[in-house]
Amino acid sequence: MKKKMSRFDLEKMKQSSQIVTWVTAYDYPTASFAEQAGMDMILVGDSLGMCVYGYEGTVPVTMDQCVEHCKAVRKGASNTFVVGDLPFLSYQVSIEEAVRNAGRFYKESNVDAVKLEGGIRVCPQIKAISDAGMLVIGHIGLTPQSSGQLGGFKAQGRTAETAKEVIADARAVQEAGAFALLVEAVPPEVTKIIRDELKIPVYSIGAGVHADGQLTICSDLLGMFQAFTPKFVKKYENLAERATQAFSKYVEEVRNREFPEEQHTYKMVDGEFEKLLKLLN
Ligand code: KIV
Repeated sequence: MKKKMSRFDLEKMKQSSQIVTWVTAYDYPTASFAEQAGMDMILVGDSLGMCVYGYEGTVPVTMDQCVEHCKAVRKGASNTFVVGDLPFLSYQVSIEEAVRNAGRFYKESNVDAVKLEGGIRVCPQIKAISDAGMLVIGHIGLTPQSSGQLGGFKAQGRTAETAKEVIADARAVQEAGAFALLVEAVPPEVTKIIRDELKIPVYSIGAGVHADGQLTICSDLLGMFQAFTPKFVKKYENLAERATQAFSKYVEEVRNREFPEEQHTYKMVDGEFEKLLKLLN
């Protein structure tokens, strides 16, 4: 059976330049497929708002939704390092709320770590969650919960000035006690500076090849999310098309009375149908 990663395994992987594989999952079957494929980590991202609930962004997602999806993922991937994603307004209002909500993921969903978005401005929350004995992953660069402030889902750190800000965020997140950092939609040169400087593992989603690991959203990887496709997405499957084809075939066969066939139906015990007819007369 696959051994579950610990933070020390992840740190050792950075030291020995072994790349970490990370994907999102929101439900039991997807989590179990990821585990069977040998994935190192799973994020139960608040991207579930868009990928599962059809919201336009992640802002409406609630703690209760995240906790429930984490429970399903934990069941499907009991030997994989699972990260719960703190949704919008679950950690920004106060440090106490941040610790309490991070703790909910631990107590109710048995996660291995939590993630929150932001750099310097959320360092007090990172420190408090970490001081309470939990593992925290920072998330900088493009932070979807504040995409309104960033002017949309746009790459970050593309100029010297803004790249300097991203690097300052990375340093602050490590200093505050995060055990790992996720960098989203930032040019690879900037990610490399961060990865080379920081002691903690630095993971990328759309931040190039120079990272200690790669994260991809399962619905992008599997070709299920259709609203838009970010530049950094590689589709390994086209499940949207394949599922639509399968449903169309089903519709056609049901309408033509080609399904169900004999092999899909139950047989009465020998002689029981005749008895039934007598009983009914
Ligand atoms: O919610 C999520 O899946 C994320 C990724 C976009 C990094 O936070």
